[in-house]
Amino acid sequence: MAKSKRSWEKRLGGETDELTVDFVESLSYDKRLYKYDIAASVAHARMLGEVGLITKSELSEIQKALFEISDEIATGRFRFDKTCEDIHMAIEAALIKKIGDVGAKLHTGRSRNDQVATDMRLWMRDEIELLQTRITLLQRAFVKLAAKYTEAVMPAYTHLQRAQPVVISSYLLSFVEQLARDWQRLKNCSELLNISPLGCGAVAGSTLALDRKSTAKQLGFEGIVWNSIDAAGDRDFCAEFIFDCALIAVHLSRLAEDWIIYSTGEFNFIRIDDKYCTGSSMMPQKRNPDILELIRAKTGSVYGALMAMLTILKAQPSTYNRDLQEDKIHVFRSADTIEAALDVAAAVVANTKFNTDHIASGLDSGFLDATALAEYLVKKGVPFRKAHGIVGSLVATCEQQDKVKLSDISLDEFKAASELVDDDVYSCLGAANVAKRYTTLGAAGPEQVAKQIAYWKDQLKEQ
Ligand code: ARG
Repeated sequence: MAKSKRSWEKRLGGETDELTVDFVESLSYDKRLYKYDIAASVAHARMLGEVGLITKSELSEIQKALFEISDEIATGRFRFDKTCEDIHMAIEAALIKKIGDVGAKLHTGRSRNDQVATDMRLWMRDEIELLQTRITLLQRAFVKLAAKYTEAVMPAYTHLQRAQPVVISSYLLSFVEQLARDWQRLKNCSELLNISPLGCGAVAGSTLALDRKSTAKQLGFEGIVWNSIDAAGDRDFCAEFIFDCALIAVHLSRLAEDWIIYSTGEFNFIRIDDKYCTGSSMMPQKRNPDILELIRAKTGSVYGALMAMLTILKAQPSTYNRDLQEDKIHVFRSADTIEAALDVAAAVVANTKFNTDHIASGLDSGFLDATALAEYLVKKGVPFRKAHGIVGSLVATCEQQDKVKLSDISLDEFKAASELVDDDVYSCLGAANVAKRYTTLGAAGPEQVAKQIAYWKDQLKEQ
Protein backbone atom coordinates (compact mmCIF):
# COMPACT_ATOMS: atom_id res chain seq x y z
CA MET A 1 0.00 0.00 0.00
CA ALA A 2 1.28 3.42 -0.85
CA LYS A 3 1.16 6.37 1.51
CA SER A 4 -0.96 8.69 -0.51
CA LYS A 5 -0.51 12.40 -1.14
CA ARG A 6 -4.05 12.56 -2.35
CA SER A 7 -6.06 15.65 -1.68
CA TRP A 8 -9.20 13.58 -1.16
CA GLU A 9 -7.88 11.35 1.60
CA LYS A 10 -10.59 12.57 3.97
CA ARG A 11 -13.19 11.16 1.60
CA LEU A 12 -11.73 7.81 0.61
CA GLY A 13 -10.72 5.45 3.37
CA GLY A 14 -7.50 3.45 3.64
CA GLU A 15 -4.44 3.54 1.47
CA THR A 16 -4.42 3.45 -2.31
CA ASP A 17 -3.31 0.17 -3.79
CA GLU A 18 0.11 0.31 -5.45
CA LEU A 19 -1.51 -0.90 -8.65
CA THR A 20 -3.86 2.09 -8.60
CA VAL A 21 -1.00 4.51 -8.03
CA ASP A 22 0.96 3.13 -10.97
CA PHE A 23 -2.00 2.92 -13.26
CA VAL A 24 -3.49 6.35 -12.75
CA GLU A 25 -0.33 8.43 -12.53
CA SER A 26 0.59 10.80 -15.33
CA LEU A 27 3.47 12.48 -13.51
CA SER A 28 6.00 10.41 -15.43
CA TYR A 29 5.02 12.19 -18.63
CA ASP A 30 3.19 15.36 -17.63
CA LYS A 31 6.07 16.76 -15.59
CA ARG A 32 7.21 18.42 -18.78
CA LEU A 33 4.24 20.76 -18.28
CA TYR A 34 5.68 22.13 -15.06
CA LYS A 35 6.62 25.60 -16.38
CA TYR A 36 3.13 26.11 -17.71
CA ASP A 37 1.50 24.76 -14.58
CA ILE A 38 3.47 27.23 -12.50
CA ALA A 39 2.74 30.12 -14.86
CA ALA A 40 -0.98 29.31 -14.68
CA SER A 41 -0.79 29.03 -10.89
CA VAL A 42 0.94 32.39 -10.61
CA ALA A 43 -1.74 33.98 -12.79
CA HIS A 44 -4.47 32.31 -10.74
CA ALA A 45 -2.91 33.46 -7.46
CA ARG A 46 -2.58 37.03 -8.71
CA MET A 47 -6.21 36.99 -9.75
CA LEU A 48 -7.21 35.62 -6.32
CA GLY A 49 -5.33 38.59 -4.88
CA GLU A 50 -7.06 41.05 -7.20
CA VAL A 51 -10.54 39.85 -6.24
CA GLY A 52 -9.70 39.76 -2.55
CA LEU A 53 -9.74 36.00 -1.98
CA ILE A 54 -6.16 36.09 -0.72
CA THR A 55 -4.18 38.94 0.80
CA LYS A 56 -1.21 40.69 -0.77
CA SER A 57 1.21 39.03 1.59
CA GLU A 58 -0.34 35.59 0.96
CA LEU A 59 0.08 36.22 -2.74
CA SER A 60 3.74 37.08 -2.40
CA GLU A 61 4.33 34.00 -0.24
CA ILE A 62 2.64 31.80 -2.82
CA GLN A 63 4.52 33.37 -5.71
CA LYS A 64 7.87 33.09 -3.98
CA ALA A 65 7.30 29.43 -3.17
CA LEU A 66 6.09 28.66 -6.71
CA PHE A 67 9.23 30.24 -8.17
CA GLU A 68 11.36 28.20 -5.80
CA ILE A 69 9.59 25.03 -6.91
CA SER A 70 10.07 25.99 -10.52
CA ASP A 71 13.76 26.44 -9.89
CA GLU A 72 14.02 23.13 -8.06
CA ILE A 73 12.40 21.31 -10.97
CA ALA A 74 14.54 23.12 -13.55
CA THR A 75 17.74 22.23 -11.71
CA GLY A 76 16.76 18.63 -11.02
CA ARG A 77 16.44 19.09 -7.26
CA PHE A 78 12.72 18.39 -7.10
CA ARG A 79 11.66 14.96 -5.89
CA PHE A 80 8.80 13.70 -8.01
CA ASP A 81 6.52 11.43 -6.06
CA LYS A 82 4.15 9.40 -8.18
CA THR A 83 1.60 9.12 -5.37
CA CYS A 84 0.92 12.76 -6.23
CA GLU A 85 -0.53 11.42 -9.52
CA ASP A 86 0.29 14.35 -11.73
CA ILE A 87 2.30 17.54 -12.06
CA HIS A 88 -0.55 19.67 -10.74
CA MET A 89 -0.77 17.80 -7.46
CA ALA A 90 2.99 17.43 -7.19
CA ILE A 91 3.47 21.18 -7.36
CA GLU A 92 0.57 21.92 -5.04
CA ALA A 93 1.80 19.38 -2.50
CA ALA A 94 5.27 20.95 -2.58
CA LEU A 95 3.72 24.39 -2.16
CA ILE A 96 1.72 23.31 0.88
CA LYS A 97 4.79 21.63 2.32
CA LYS A 98 6.67 24.91 2.00
CA ILE A 99 4.08 27.40 3.21
CA GLY A 100 1.28 25.39 4.83
CA ASP A 101 -2.21 26.85 4.94
CA VAL A 102 -1.39 29.78 2.68
CA GLY A 103 -0.40 27.28 -0.01
CA ALA A 104 -3.67 25.45 0.62
CA LYS A 105 -5.50 28.56 -0.64
CA LEU A 106 -4.11 28.36 -4.17
CA HIS A 107 -6.61 25.79 -5.38
CA THR A 108 -9.53 28.14 -4.58
CA GLY A 109 -12.05 28.03 -7.41
CA ARG A 110 -9.83 25.77 -9.46
CA SER A 111 -9.85 22.13 -10.50
CA ARG A 112 -7.23 20.02 -12.15
CA ASN A 113 -9.68 19.86 -15.00
CA ASP A 114 -9.33 23.52 -15.94
CA GLN A 115 -5.69 23.45 -14.84
CA VAL A 116 -4.65 20.70 -17.21
CA ALA A 117 -6.66 22.15 -20.07
CA THR A 118 -4.89 25.47 -19.51
CA ASP A 119 -1.43 23.90 -19.23
CA MET A 120 -1.90 21.96 -22.44
CA ARG A 121 -2.93 25.03 -24.39
CA LEU A 122 0.02 27.00 -23.05
CA TRP A 123 2.44 24.17 -23.80
CA MET A 124 1.08 23.71 -27.29
CA ARG A 125 1.33 27.39 -28.13
CA ASP A 126 5.07 27.24 -27.42
CA GLU A 127 5.56 23.87 -29.07
CA ILE A 128 3.93 25.17 -32.24
CA GLU A 129 6.48 27.98 -32.35
CA LEU A 130 9.31 25.48 -32.00
CA LEU A 131 7.90 23.38 -34.81
CA GLN A 132 7.40 26.44 -37.00
CA THR A 133 11.03 27.44 -36.53
CA ARG A 134 12.13 23.98 -37.58
CA ILE A 135 9.86 24.08 -40.60
CA THR A 136 11.42 27.38 -41.60
CA LEU A 137 14.94 25.96 -41.23
CA LEU A 138 14.03 23.05 -43.46
CA GLN A 139 12.49 25.39 -46.01
CA ARG A 140 15.65 27.47 -46.04
CA ALA A 141 17.73 24.35 -46.65
CA PHE A 142 15.51 23.51 -49.62
CA VAL A 143 15.71 27.02 -51.06
CA LYS A 144 19.49 27.04 -50.71
CA LEU A 145 19.74 23.73 -52.55
CA ALA A 146 17.21 24.86 -55.14
CA ALA A 147 19.28 27.97 -55.89
CA LYS A 148 22.08 25.67 -57.13
CA TYR A 149 19.94 23.92 -59.70
CA THR A 150 17.91 26.56 -61.47
CA GLU A 151 18.98 25.45 -64.96
CA ALA A 152 19.75 21.74 -64.58
CA VAL A 153 16.91 19.59 -65.79
CA MET A 154 15.58 16.31 -64.42
CA PRO A 155 12.66 14.15 -65.41
CA ALA A 156 9.45 14.63 -63.45
CA TYR A 157 7.58 11.40 -62.89
CA THR A 158 3.89 10.71 -62.77
CA HIS A 159 2.89 7.19 -61.75
CA LEU A 160 6.65 6.83 -61.29
CA GLN A 161 6.97 6.87 -65.09
CA ARG A 162 8.98 9.52 -66.89
CA ALA A 163 6.63 12.40 -67.63
CA GLN A 164 8.01 15.87 -68.44
CA PRO A 165 11.29 17.71 -67.95
CA VAL A 166 11.55 20.06 -64.97
CA VAL A 167 14.38 22.09 -63.56
CA ILE A 168 15.66 20.41 -60.37
CA SER A 169 14.98 23.62 -58.52
CA SER A 170 11.25 23.42 -59.16
CA TYR A 171 11.16 19.90 -57.78
CA LEU A 172 12.88 21.10 -54.60
CA LEU A 173 10.64 24.13 -54.26
CA SER A 174 7.60 21.87 -54.30
CA PHE A 175 8.57 20.84 -50.77
CA VAL A 176 8.90 24.45 -49.67
CA GLU A 177 5.27 24.93 -50.65
CA GLN A 178 4.11 21.86 -48.75
CA LEU A 179 5.98 23.03 -45.68
CA ALA A 180 4.50 26.51 -45.98
CA ARG A 181 1.05 24.97 -45.69
CA ASP A 182 2.23 22.99 -42.66
CA TRP A 183 3.48 26.19 -41.05
CA GLN A 184 0.21 27.97 -41.72
CA ARG A 185 -1.84 25.03 -40.48
CA LEU A 186 0.04 25.14 -37.17
CA LYS A 187 -0.54 28.86 -36.97
CA ASN A 188 -4.27 28.33 -37.45
CA CYS A 189 -4.20 25.66 -34.75
CA SER A 190 -2.40 28.02 -32.39
CA GLU A 191 -4.88 30.83 -33.02
CA LEU A 192 -7.87 28.58 -32.43
CA LEU A 193 -6.57 27.11 -29.19
CA ASN A 194 -5.47 30.41 -27.72
CA ILE A 195 -8.39 30.95 -25.34
CA SER A 196 -8.38 30.30 -21.64
CA PRO A 197 -10.33 27.55 -19.87
CA LEU A 198 -8.96 28.66 -16.48
CA GLY A 199 -11.67 29.51 -13.99
CA CYS A 200 -14.11 26.95 -15.38
CA GLY A 201 -13.21 24.74 -12.47
CA ALA A 202 -14.25 21.11 -12.58
CA VAL A 203 -17.15 21.67 -14.95
CA ALA A 204 -19.55 24.40 -13.85
CA GLY A 205 -17.41 27.36 -12.85
CA SER A 206 -17.51 28.71 -9.34
CA THR A 207 -19.69 30.58 -6.89
CA LEU A 208 -16.65 32.72 -6.08
CA ALA A 209 -16.17 35.96 -7.98
CA LEU A 210 -13.17 34.81 -10.02
CA ASP A 211 -11.93 37.10 -12.77
CA ARG A 212 -11.35 34.80 -15.72
CA LYS A 213 -10.44 37.64 -18.01
CA SER A 214 -7.60 38.62 -15.73
CA THR A 215 -5.97 35.17 -15.78
CA ALA A 216 -6.55 34.92 -19.54
CA LYS A 217 -4.83 38.25 -20.09
CA GLN A 218 -1.92 37.43 -17.81
CA LEU A 219 -1.29 34.21 -19.70
CA GLY A 220 -1.44 35.84 -23.12
CA PHE A 221 -4.69 34.22 -24.20
CA GLU A 222 -6.79 36.07 -26.75
CA GLY A 223 -9.97 35.45 -24.78
CA ILE A 224 -11.74 32.83 -22.70
CA VAL A 225 -13.59 29.60 -23.43
CA TRP A 226 -17.14 30.77 -22.90
CA ASN A 227 -18.81 27.56 -21.76
CA SER A 228 -17.40 25.89 -18.65
CA ILE A 229 -18.71 22.45 -19.64
CA ASP A 230 -17.06 22.72 -23.04
CA ALA A 231 -13.86 24.03 -21.44
CA ALA A 232 -13.49 20.95 -19.23
CA GLY A 233 -13.86 18.44 -22.04
CA ASP A 234 -12.50 20.14 -25.13
CA ARG A 235 -9.42 18.48 -26.61
CA ASP A 236 -10.18 19.33 -30.23
CA PHE A 237 -6.92 21.24 -30.30
CA CYS A 238 -5.02 18.08 -29.41
CA ALA A 239 -6.51 16.12 -32.28
CA GLU A 240 -5.93 19.03 -34.61
CA PHE A 241 -2.33 19.43 -33.52
CA ILE A 242 -1.61 15.74 -34.10
CA PHE A 243 -3.29 15.94 -37.48
CA ASP A 244 -1.02 18.85 -38.39
CA CYS A 245 1.95 16.73 -37.30
CA ALA A 246 0.62 13.81 -39.33
CA LEU A 247 0.50 15.94 -42.45
CA ILE A 248 4.07 17.11 -41.87
CA ALA A 249 4.96 13.44 -41.55
CA VAL A 250 3.22 12.76 -44.86
CA HIS A 251 5.28 15.44 -46.58
CA LEU A 252 8.53 14.25 -45.05
CA SER A 253 7.72 10.66 -45.96
CA ARG A 254 7.21 11.62 -49.59
CA LEU A 255 10.55 13.38 -49.63
CA ALA A 256 12.15 10.36 -47.96
CA GLU A 257 10.61 7.96 -50.46
CA ASP A 258 11.76 10.07 -53.43
CA TRP A 259 15.28 10.33 -52.16
CA ILE A 260 15.54 6.66 -51.23
CA ILE A 261 14.66 5.94 -54.85
CA TYR A 262 16.90 8.71 -56.20
CA SER A 263 19.88 7.39 -54.27
CA THR A 264 19.63 3.85 -55.68
CA GLY A 265 22.29 2.72 -58.15
CA GLU A 266 19.54 2.46 -60.75
CA PHE A 267 18.59 6.12 -60.46
CA ASN A 268 21.75 7.66 -59.08
CA PHE A 269 20.16 11.13 -59.09
CA ILE A 270 21.50 12.26 -55.73
CA ARG A 271 24.35 11.72 -53.36
CA ILE A 272 23.66 12.16 -49.67
CA ASP A 273 26.79 13.01 -47.73
CA ASP A 274 28.44 10.08 -45.93
CA LYS A 275 27.72 11.76 -42.60
CA TYR A 276 24.04 11.10 -43.15
CA CYS A 277 24.30 7.55 -44.48
CA THR A 278 24.83 4.27 -42.71
CA GLY A 279 26.71 1.12 -43.69
CA SER A 280 25.97 -2.56 -43.53
CA SER A 281 27.41 -4.90 -40.93
CA MET A 282 27.95 -7.53 -43.63
CA MET A 283 28.13 -5.93 -47.07
CA PRO A 284 31.19 -3.71 -47.18
CA GLN A 285 30.13 -1.68 -50.21
CA LYS A 286 26.86 -0.37 -48.81
CA ARG A 287 25.74 3.22 -48.23
CA ASN A 288 22.25 3.02 -46.90
CA PRO A 289 19.69 5.83 -46.57
CA ASP A 290 18.57 4.72 -43.10
CA ILE A 291 17.74 8.24 -41.97
CA LEU A 292 15.25 8.60 -44.79
CA GLU A 293 13.78 5.19 -44.10
CA LEU A 294 13.27 6.11 -40.46
CA ILE A 295 11.67 9.43 -41.40
CA ARG A 296 9.33 7.42 -43.60
CA ALA A 297 8.59 4.95 -40.81
CA LYS A 298 7.88 7.60 -38.20
CA THR A 299 4.81 8.60 -40.18
CA GLY A 300 3.30 5.40 -38.83
CA SER A 301 3.91 6.46 -35.28
CA VAL A 302 2.22 9.84 -35.80
CA TYR A 303 -0.73 8.24 -37.58
CA GLY A 304 -1.01 5.88 -34.62
CA ALA A 305 -1.10 8.86 -32.28
CA LEU A 306 -3.80 10.54 -34.36
CA MET A 307 -5.93 7.43 -34.40
CA ALA A 308 -5.43 6.99 -30.66
CA MET A 309 -6.38 10.61 -29.94
CA LEU A 310 -9.53 10.49 -32.07
CA THR A 311 -10.52 7.19 -30.51
CA ILE A 312 -9.98 8.53 -26.99
CA LEU A 313 -12.31 11.42 -27.78
CA LYS A 314 -15.00 9.39 -29.46
CA ALA A 315 -18.21 8.98 -27.47
CA GLN A 316 -16.73 10.23 -24.22
CA PRO A 317 -19.48 11.46 -21.97
CA SER A 318 -19.59 15.24 -21.88
CA THR A 319 -17.08 17.20 -19.75
CA TYR A 320 -13.95 15.78 -18.17
CA ASN A 321 -13.24 12.08 -17.96
CA ARG A 322 -9.93 10.57 -16.96
CA ASP A 323 -9.62 9.26 -20.51
CA LEU A 324 -8.44 12.76 -21.37
CA GLN A 325 -5.27 12.25 -19.36
CA GLU A 326 -4.00 10.05 -22.18
CA ASP A 327 -4.12 12.93 -24.66
CA LYS A 328 -0.65 13.95 -23.53
CA ILE A 329 0.97 10.66 -24.44
CA HIS A 330 -0.07 11.05 -28.06
CA VAL A 331 0.39 14.80 -28.34
CA PHE A 332 3.91 14.67 -26.88
CA ARG A 333 4.88 11.67 -28.97
CA SER A 334 3.75 13.42 -32.16
CA ALA A 335 5.54 16.65 -31.30
CA ASP A 336 8.80 14.90 -30.37
CA THR A 337 8.73 12.71 -33.44
CA ILE A 338 8.12 15.59 -35.81
CA GLU A 339 10.70 17.83 -34.17
CA ALA A 340 13.37 15.19 -34.62
CA ALA A 341 12.28 14.34 -38.16
CA LEU A 342 12.33 18.00 -39.23
CA ASP A 343 15.80 18.49 -37.76
CA VAL A 344 17.29 15.48 -39.46
CA ALA A 345 15.51 16.22 -42.74
CA ALA A 346 17.06 19.71 -42.77
CA ALA A 347 20.51 18.20 -42.22
CA VAL A 348 20.04 15.71 -45.05
CA VAL A 349 18.75 18.37 -47.45
CA ALA A 350 21.68 20.65 -46.63
CA ASN A 351 24.11 17.81 -47.33
CA THR A 352 22.82 16.36 -50.57
CA LYS A 353 24.02 16.94 -54.11
CA PHE A 354 22.22 16.24 -57.34
CA ASN A 355 24.30 14.28 -59.86
CA THR A 356 23.43 16.67 -62.67
CA ASP A 357 25.76 15.12 -65.27
CA HIS A 358 24.35 11.69 -64.72
CA ILE A 359 20.77 12.98 -64.76
CA ALA A 360 21.46 14.93 -67.98
CA SER A 361 22.92 11.84 -69.65
CA GLY A 362 19.60 10.06 -69.21
CA LEU A 363 17.26 12.83 -70.27
CA ASP A 364 16.91 11.59 -73.84
CA SER A 365 15.06 8.49 -72.82
CA GLY A 366 11.38 8.43 -72.02
CA PHE A 367 10.20 10.96 -74.62
CA LEU A 368 9.96 13.71 -72.00
CA ASP A 369 9.36 16.25 -74.79
CA ALA A 370 6.29 14.52 -76.23
CA THR A 371 3.79 16.85 -74.57
CA ALA A 372 5.77 19.89 -75.71
CA LEU A 373 5.71 18.53 -79.29
CA ALA A 374 1.93 18.19 -79.09
CA GLU A 375 1.77 21.81 -77.89
CA TYR A 376 4.03 22.83 -80.80
CA LEU A 377 1.39 21.39 -83.14
CA VAL A 378 -1.34 23.22 -81.21
CA LYS A 379 0.51 26.48 -81.83
CA LYS A 380 0.44 25.59 -85.55
CA GLY A 381 -3.34 25.22 -85.37
CA VAL A 382 -3.81 21.48 -84.77
CA PRO A 383 -6.57 20.68 -82.22
CA PHE A 384 -4.93 19.27 -79.09
CA ARG A 385 -6.65 15.86 -79.21
CA LYS A 386 -5.40 15.38 -82.78
CA ALA A 387 -1.91 16.60 -81.86
CA HIS A 388 -1.87 14.12 -78.97
CA GLY A 389 -2.68 11.32 -81.44
CA ILE A 390 -0.03 12.42 -83.94
CA VAL A 391 2.70 12.54 -81.28
CA GLY A 392 1.51 9.24 -79.79
CA SER A 393 1.96 7.59 -83.19
CA LEU A 394 5.39 9.22 -83.63
CA VAL A 395 6.52 7.84 -80.25
CA ALA A 396 5.28 4.38 -81.23
CA THR A 397 7.15 4.63 -84.56
CA CYS A 398 10.34 5.69 -82.76
CA GLU A 399 10.08 2.66 -80.51
CA GLN A 400 9.57 0.35 -83.49
CA GLN A 401 12.55 1.87 -85.29
CA ASP A 402 14.77 1.87 -82.20
CA LYS A 403 14.95 5.66 -82.15
CA VAL A 404 15.37 6.84 -78.56
CA LYS A 405 14.26 10.41 -79.05
CA LEU A 406 11.81 12.46 -81.04
CA SER A 407 14.59 14.65 -82.48
CA ASP A 408 15.89 11.52 -84.30
CA ILE A 409 12.86 11.81 -86.57
CA SER A 410 13.65 13.45 -89.91
CA LEU A 411 11.75 16.49 -91.15
CA ASP A 412 10.22 14.39 -93.95
CA GLU A 413 8.92 11.90 -91.42
CA PHE A 414 7.51 14.74 -89.32
CA LYS A 415 5.85 16.22 -92.40
CA ALA A 416 4.34 12.86 -93.21
CA ALA A 417 2.70 12.94 -89.79
CA SER A 418 1.59 16.56 -90.14
CA GLU A 419 2.43 18.92 -92.95
CA LEU A 420 2.32 21.80 -90.45
CA VAL A 421 5.68 20.75 -88.94
CA ASP A 422 8.65 22.97 -89.93
CA ASP A 423 12.33 22.72 -89.15
CA ASP A 424 11.76 25.00 -86.13
CA VAL A 425 10.43 21.83 -84.49
CA TYR A 426 13.93 20.74 -83.47
CA SER A 427 14.43 23.77 -81.24
CA CYS A 428 11.32 22.71 -79.31
CA LEU A 429 12.59 19.20 -78.69
CA GLY A 430 14.95 17.94 -76.02
CA ALA A 431 14.39 18.23 -72.27
CA ALA A 432 16.36 21.43 -71.71
CA ASN A 433 14.65 23.25 -74.61
CA VAL A 434 11.26 22.25 -73.30
CA ALA A 435 12.01 23.45 -69.77
CA LYS A 436 13.11 26.84 -71.11
CA ARG A 437 9.86 27.19 -73.01
CA TYR A 438 7.53 26.71 -70.06
CA THR A 439 5.54 29.86 -69.83
CA THR A 440 2.64 29.34 -67.41
CA LEU A 441 2.71 30.77 -63.91
CA GLY A 442 4.15 28.24 -61.48
CA ALA A 443 5.60 26.07 -64.27
CA ALA A 444 8.75 24.03 -63.76
CA GLY A 445 11.10 26.09 -65.92
CA PRO A 446 14.13 28.27 -65.13
CA GLU A 447 12.22 31.51 -65.60
CA GLN A 448 9.56 30.58 -63.05
CA VAL A 449 11.91 29.18 -60.44
CA ALA A 450 14.06 32.30 -60.49
CA LYS A 451 11.00 34.25 -59.37
CA GLN A 452 10.00 31.63 -56.84
CA ILE A 453 13.44 31.50 -55.28
CA ALA A 454 13.49 35.28 -54.92
CA TYR A 455 10.04 35.10 -53.34
CA TRP A 456 10.99 32.40 -50.85
CA LYS A 457 14.29 34.00 -49.95
CA ASP A 458 12.39 37.10 -48.99
CA GLN A 459 9.67 35.20 -47.15
CA LEU A 460 12.09 33.07 -45.17
CA LYS A 461 14.77 35.61 -44.43
CA GLU A 462 16.02 35.86 -40.90
CA GLN A 463 14.26 38.70 -39.15
N1 ARG B 1 -3.70 14.24 -14.73
C1 ARG B 1 -5.00 14.63 -15.14
C2 ARG B 1 -5.00 14.79 -16.66
O1 ARG B 1 -3.99 14.88 -17.21
C3 ARG B 1 -5.39 15.92 -14.52
C4 ARG B 1 -6.85 16.13 -14.35
C5 ARG B 1 -7.41 15.13 -13.43
N2 ARG B 1 -8.70 15.53 -13.00
C6 ARG B 1 -9.43 14.75 -12.23
N3 ARG B 1 -10.54 15.24 -11.85
N4 ARG B 1 -9.08 13.53 -11.95
O2 ARG B 1 -6.05 14.82 -17.29
